[in-house]
Amino acid sequence: MSAHHQEVPSLLERIATTMSQAIGRVRADLTGADPVVRRSDRADFQCNAPLALAKRVGVKPVELAASVVAGLDVDGDAVIASVEPSGPGFLNVTVTGEAVWEQVAARLADARLGLGLPELGRRVVVDYSAPNIAKEMHVGHLRTTIIGDSLARVTGFLGADVLRQNHLGDFGTQFGMLIQYLDEHPDAAWHQDELGDGTSAVSALDGLYRSARAKFDADPGFADRSRSRVVALQSGDPGTVAVWQDIVAESERSFRAIYDRLTVLLTPEDSVGESFYNPMLGDTVEELTEAGLAVASDGALVFYSQEVSGPDGRPVTLMIRKRDGGYGYDATDLATIRYRLRDLKANRLIYVTDSRQALHFQLVFEAARSAGWLTDSVTAEHAAYGTILGPDGTPFKTRAGGTVRLMDLLDDAVSRARAVVAEKNPGLDAAELDRIAESAGIAAVKYADLSTSRVKDYSFDVDRMVSFTGNTGVYLQYAHARISSILRNAGDLGTTVDSTIPLEPAERDLGLALDAYGAVVTEVAATLEPHRLCGYLYELARVFTTFYEACPVLKADEPVRGNRLALCTLAARTLGHGLDLLGIAAPQRM
Ligand code: ARG
Repeated sequence: MSAHHQEVPSLLERIATTMSQAIGRVRADLTGADPVVRRSDRADFQCNAPLALAKRVGVKPVELAASVVAGLDVDGDAVIASVEPSGPGFLNVTVTGEAVWEQVAARLADARLGLGLPELGRRVVVDYSAPNIAKEMHVGHLRTTIIGDSLARVTGFLGADVLRQNHLGDFGTQFGMLIQYLDEHPDAAWHQDELGDGTSAVSALDGLYRSARAKFDADPGFADRSRSRVVALQSGDPGTVAVWQDIVAESERSFRAIYDRLTVLLTPEDSVGESFYNPMLGDTVEELTEAGLAVASDGALVFYSQEVSGPDGRPVTLMIRKRDGGYGYDATDLATIRYRLRDLKANRLIYVTDSRQALHFQLVFEAARSAGWLTDSVTAEHAAYGTILGPDGTPFKTRAGGTVRLMDLLDDAVSRARAVVAEKNPGLDAAELDRIAESAGIAAVKYADLSTSRVKDYSFDVDRMVSFTGNTGVYLQYAHARISSILRNAGDLGTTVDSTIPLEPAERDLGLALDAYGAVVTEVAATLEPHRLCGYLYELARVFTTFYEACPVLKADEPVRGNRLALCTLAARTLGHGLDLLGIAAPQRM
């Protein structure tokens, strides 16, 4: 890490340490207990420990509160200005103005805003996006792509060695059908260079696959030829494999167009599709069989869950090998988790898919634990998310009832963002308007998704998403651009802070809000819930607005002006940084 990095503990952390020490001094039996320090409306912070802990040591909360206060050396403390017992056993803690200004200065001086690297030394696999080859990416792949990308950014920023894994669905019997159909219809156009601008290779393949499926169901001869194709593909027949590779490559090019537009981190190297694990399936099954975990059932091999049973009371199963000897999604995920643990040596596995796959992952984790691959030192998590609904509250569909193409959805958001931006800022030239509209439209879509609690469903409401007001990505981009413009007008970047200047209440609120950024980022990494960061940034933008209304910046005299500029600079950097962790651009102008 850069030599200029200096972690800056937050005031909340420093007060928690002080409180914890004071509690340990007055009650040795409470040494190490959580001091329960929170931000508070009544003072700067509140320590709830006396109320929370008194019962454990058999004293009254107010008594414990009084003895903790007596055990503190407030005069000798650089941070705490006063501690007042309050209510049934709280302590209201006020910090000194100097301490707030010094936090602001220290964060400004650091390239990482003073945030630490708690994930350093951990290898985190983030499995996300994972569309299926020869199928159009649809609205169902939007959430995994956006959420997964943000989680990869957050854990990576906190120091983890992140391995992004795009578990493409590039394997399965359906490819036999498709390849056979293409073989019998040599005139079918599906390569990108043979198609018009409006169609992607993957949407052409999607259509051809549907035709193949229909033919498969109607024509037994074709069905037989398709089955032989599956065998040819799996046994490595060069001609068949070449067509399959061509299909995979064309599909990935179509996905890339979406990834570029969404500006996600996924690169071609991150594509490690289901087929990658084919050579490992045999060993995986052998190991599970030897461990008694793969059990014969009706000619197939299955894993019986010890933890979950179905509505009929019988254990739920994973299909390890089908009766025809084939392997499917379940078997591939078993080989995958084994590889990620044993070969990639991951410390944390994160799978980002919709919540309908919850049972699948629960069973995969259970099997991996039973096999001894997944140990207590590793966490495996399914970051499950809800469904995107249309305005009528049913799963999002086109007017004709079809699946919504992701590209169309993004085009729509960008064109509505263009209208809103043009109205707000009529002076923009066409090129700049295009650039800002693209960034605002994509921000709108991403933020609407990320700001909803992950497990919940949400309604896709483009007009609300692109609004300049309310909890939207566009509002936050605008807030950032507005602060950037203040800083441009100031000319110099105020980074010298005079910490002896008394704080206005609005300055104090802003300084304390900025100081709390790191805790939120850490919380997102722990809970895998980016909406917490969205909520923080929205609140920060509001606190900034209150500050800006109450405290003139450019018209103030030095040294007040410099201090306020420092707050503005740190606010812009924090907003911009937080948006970046969400995968959202923060333009200087809007
Ligand atoms: N391709 C799958 C789908 O579209 C998602 C794969 C998720 N990752 C995994 N390891 N199963 O639903």
